[in-house]
Amino acid sequence: MDKEVATGCQHDDGEGKTYYSWCQQCAIKELERGFCEWTSSPHVNKLIQWTQKNMTHWYDHLSFIRYDRLKNIKFYSDGRYGSIYEACWLDGPRWVWNSQKNIWECEKNIKVALKIFKNSSNMSVDFLNQVFNHVKLLTNGSLADFFGITEDPSGNYIFVMKLYTDNLSEYLEKNHELMSWWDIVDMLYSIAEGLDQIHAGGRFHSNLHFGNILIADGASSIDARISDVGLHGPVDEQRSPTDYYGKISFTAPEILRNEKPEETKICKFYQAADIYSFGIIMAMISTGKIPFSDREEDEKLSEDICNKNLHPEIFKESMPQSYYDLMIRCLSSIPEQRPSANELNLLLGKWVSDLGDKPNFSEVASQFHEANDKKWEPTVSMDNIDEKYYLRISEEGETRCLA
Ligand SMILES: Nc1ncnc2c1ncn2[C@@H]1O[C@H](COP(=O)(O)OP(=O)(O)OP(=O)(O)O)[C@@H](O)[C@H]1O
Ligand SMILES: [Mg+2]
Repeated sequence: MDKEVATGCQHDDGEGKTYYSWCQQCAIKELERGFCEWTSSPHVNKLIQWTQKNMTHWYDHLSFIRYDRLKNIKFYSDGRYGSIYEACWLDGPRWVWNSQKNIWECEKNIKVALKIFKNSSNMSVDFLNQVFNHVKLLTNGSLADFFGITEDPSGNYIFVMKLYTDNLSEYLEKNHELMSWWDIVDMLYSIAEGLDQIHAGGRFHSNLHFGNILIADGASSIDARISDVGLHGPVDEQRSPTDYYGKISFTAPEILRNEKPEETKICKFYQAADIYSFGIIMAMISTGKIPFSDREEDEKLSEDICNKNLHPEIFKESMPQSYYDLMIRCLSSIPEQRPSANELNLLLGKWVSDLGDKPNFSEVASQFHEANDKKWEPTVSMDNIDEKYYLRISEEGETRCLA
């Protein structure tokens, strides 16, 4: 974005702290004037205040949102530790630049999702610490938009975020047939960018699954955002940094085996597990199907993933070789053999640009073109492939496909 000195502001120090009429120092001062005991929890108040005092851009802080400013509250969907409601936020986030008046304005009457945890009035300090550890990521522009916190009349704390059109599974159900391999790479690139941002900050997600990939379907590209960074698990229990609340089918075998990392290796351990989840997401996007949807998320599934290296059904023949190879690396049972999030981000970025580089197709681009052509051939459509491949990776990391 072009930089402009804030109108009437003396704080431009040449370090890019002012953009258009937004000035970091003035904005923080203005927010500080509004500090008060918004909620009944001093910890929640502190959390919101911390994000406001430490904002670096106009969007990267949490707001306290008055409950009576949320209207038309309706049930949206149930989750594992709470529920999502949709609502209209009358005031909206202040993120619209009015170039005539030279001011930032609120996008009023915006649709929001309310994330309501069970027993959130008894939110444990451990849960709040988890949120606090991730708060810079919650407000990171490349992840799902997160606006703030409200408290309902019964004292429940509710997280307020943007309402997206679909989660990954809902999106694939409606659109997979029509998606080209370009779209698939495009979508994965958005997810890899988000994951890279999370890992670059020395953090990890540890609950990546289709419900936490939210899609805003734009006109020219598919904007997939990672959500719930640091917002998972029960809110009213004591927990340690190594307690894990992920979804079994997306969870790396070493975690299902209950291996615990040494204190100094916690970050690397869980980052590698995120990459495994990314591999499952690659499998899911390629087939359009929820992994292991014909099975219960139970102990037996966990055992099969751990002991038999069981992976979801894929259609190898219909996949570009490079895609298959990358997915297999992500799904390696040896965490050190998995790529880093940064490598994924760079590689997928390269694929996106290769695919657009007509007519000088690279080897990789040719593979994707071929796979695309196959996808639209009626004789080799997904429905007609009767040979199912179940991927298994041996202990040595060697890959075999078993019919
Ligand atoms: N901001 C949002 N916009 C649209 N759908 C959402 C939003 N947040 C969550 N959802 C959807 O609502 C459902 C419940 O979400 P919730 O986060 O409570 O549980 P989950 O994602 O299934 O599991 P987890 O507790 O592991 O996050 C999911 O299908 C999720 O994709
Ligand atoms: Mg979720």
